[in-house]
Amino acid sequence: MCPIVSIRDVSFWYTREKEKDNEFQSAGNHVLSEINLDISRGEFIALVGPNGCGKSTLVRLINGLLLPSTGSVTVDGLDTGNKNNLPAVRRKVGMVFQNPDTQLFASVVEEDVAFGVENLCLPRAEIRQRVDWALEQVGMQDYRNYPPHRLSGGQKQKVAIAGVLAMRPDCIVLDEPTSMLDPGSKKEVLTAVRDLNSRHQITVIYVTHDMSETVMCNRIIAMVRGRTVFEGKPRDFFADQGALSATGLEAPPVQKLVNSLRERGIRLPADINSSKELVDFICR
Ligand SMILES: Nc1ncnc2c1ncn2[C@@H]1O[C@H](COP(=O)(O)OP(=O)(O)OP(=O)(O)O)[C@@H](O)[C@H]1O
Ligand SMILES: [Mg+2]
Repeated sequence: MCPIVSIRDVSFWYTREKEKDNEFQSAGNHVLSEINLDISRGEFIALVGPNGCGKSTLVRLINGLLLPSTGSVTVDGLDTGNKNNLPAVRRKVGMVFQNPDTQLFASVVEEDVAFGVENLCLPRAEIRQRVDWALEQVGMQDYRNYPPHRLSGGQKQKVAIAGVLAMRPDCIVLDEPTSMLDPGSKKEVLTAVRDLNSRHQITVIYVTHDMSETVMCNRIIAMVRGRTVFEGKPRDFFADQGALSATGLEAPPVQKLVNSLRERGIRLPADINSSKELVDFICR
């Protein structure tokens, strides 16, 4: 099956107008270098790495907000380098950013969720149906008539996700969607995203600095200085001291404990992701 996102030999550098024709594009200025990545439909990918390593740049290439300097990005077979493909690419890949306040414009929640869909020139009944469906998916149907400024950060972020969902995307990219939220809201947003992935097989690309958010994903992609340095299961990443020290990241506490128990010869099931699962197993 063709991957939903395919990134081939992509390098990227930000170019200022006056530098377009000179030697600025030397390898030293690359923000991304020779990235190759295939993302399959239905995957839940966590994209991690230190500040400035190029995570946000990479995800902006995926929905055509940025175009590769060299190489190609295709979404469901559509090359983002072809201008004619961009509207379809942006319908297929929805973006959710860090700050929910910058993503909501309307005075009422349901108007906000309808904002993108209204540009698709669909019949009113279908718009209505999509908005209702999207609000339900994130559990915000009871807030449809609320003004967004009266919602919590987590609720606002879920409304932003509903706005993307109403476009019926194949893939949702979330760039640090919970980094401005309190722990309770964080959990709500992460649960909503996980449900979308597991119930509707929507491909998720989730950028985060919080390793505890990555334990449930199918694959971690770790970057350092514009290159991918690890691709694999979370448990393998958290057991890989080389990858952890290259990225300066730490395994979540439960994963550290699981690793040291394994080092001491204690056999544990492959996917222990929470302290509850570990306690349950040990008590058994
Ligand atoms: N618009 C821009 N113009 C020029 N350079 C930029 C621009 N945006 C980002 N950069 C640079 O590109 C590099 C990668 O930035 P990017 O925002 O993609 O990193 P990131 O991994 O998302 O970082 P963070 O974890 O802090 O969000 C950084 O060196 C950054 O300074
Ligand atoms: Mg970023």
